[in-house]
Amino acid sequence: MKQSGSLVCVGTGMTLGAHISPVCRSHIEAADVVFVSVSDALTEQWVSGMNKDVRSLQDLYAEGKSRHQTYREMIDLMMQEVRRGHRVCGAFYGHPGVFAYAPHRVIEVARDEGYQAHMEPGISAEDCLYADLGLDPGRTGCIHYEASQYLLYDRMIDPTALVVLWQIGVVGDRSVSQLVTGMNQRALLAEQLMSVYPSEHEIILYECATLPISRPRMDRIALERFSESEISAETTMVIPALHSPQLNQKVADKFAELAELHTE
Ligand SMILES: C[S@@+](CC[C@H](N)C(=O)[O-])C[C@H]1O[C@@H](n2cnc3c(N)ncnc32)[C@H](O)[C@@H]1O
Repeated sequence: MKQSGSLVCVGTGMTLGAHISPVCRSHIEAADVVFVSVSDALTEQWVSGMNKDVRSLQDLYAEGKSRHQTYREMIDLMMQEVRRGHRVCGAFYGHPGVFAYAPHRVIEVARDEGYQAHMEPGISAEDCLYADLGLDPGRTGCIHYEASQYLLYDRMIDPTALVVLWQIGVVGDRSVSQLVTGMNQRALLAEQLMSVYPSEHEIILYECATLPISRPRMDRIALERFSESEISAETTMVIPALHSPQLNQKVADKFAELAELHTE
């Protein structure tokens, strides 16, 4: 039997006031308790205006504290209210399911305990970058990696595809407790990328606008200049394709054969 509490994780989008969907807003408004994890105080204030019981999760983050611990605490706080029989809404910036551990995990925990739980999508940094940079992932294909995972597990990069590297601001932090890492860690990332791309290949340091009055950051620089660039917790690296992919002639011939059979 389903328990009476419920959970929904929603996305508030990236730009304050501009990106939230009607369905996400209505879940925030209808909840008994809203837990909010957004990137700035203004956005938190804006969400607070949508429900009389909005509680911030941002204070759970701290320099030197493992984010694994922070996520456990977030999940515990949300689940305590679900178990009390409340309708709980977790409001996360961007898309709650994109490079975000706690929203996925808390939904699993709630479902395992027999509660109704689901996620509603939001506009993520990924969505914004396609619009701002005029890039279509369908044109070349697109690979997304978390930056430390790319380095640590020697993940493959296809230079004919668009590549997006997330969390470059904390690259190399295995303790998962730093808010930003340094030039030496970024140099390691640049070095690994330069085994795939020429040092002068143009990369884009991207930060979408989080306020309707601000402009996105779209700094185009040579890869070799990356380690000395200013990087924040919000910066995403976008690497346009280096060259076109090679046609597989065997497959092209097969397609032609099949097309002929179809017309006979
Ligand atoms: C924990 S993930 C959260 C992503 C978020 N859930 C989303 O939907 O975009 C944090 C990473 O998202 C990216 N990010 C966050 N804010 C951003 C912004 N304003 N512009 C571009 N990328 C951003 C950065 O790569 C950052 O390291």
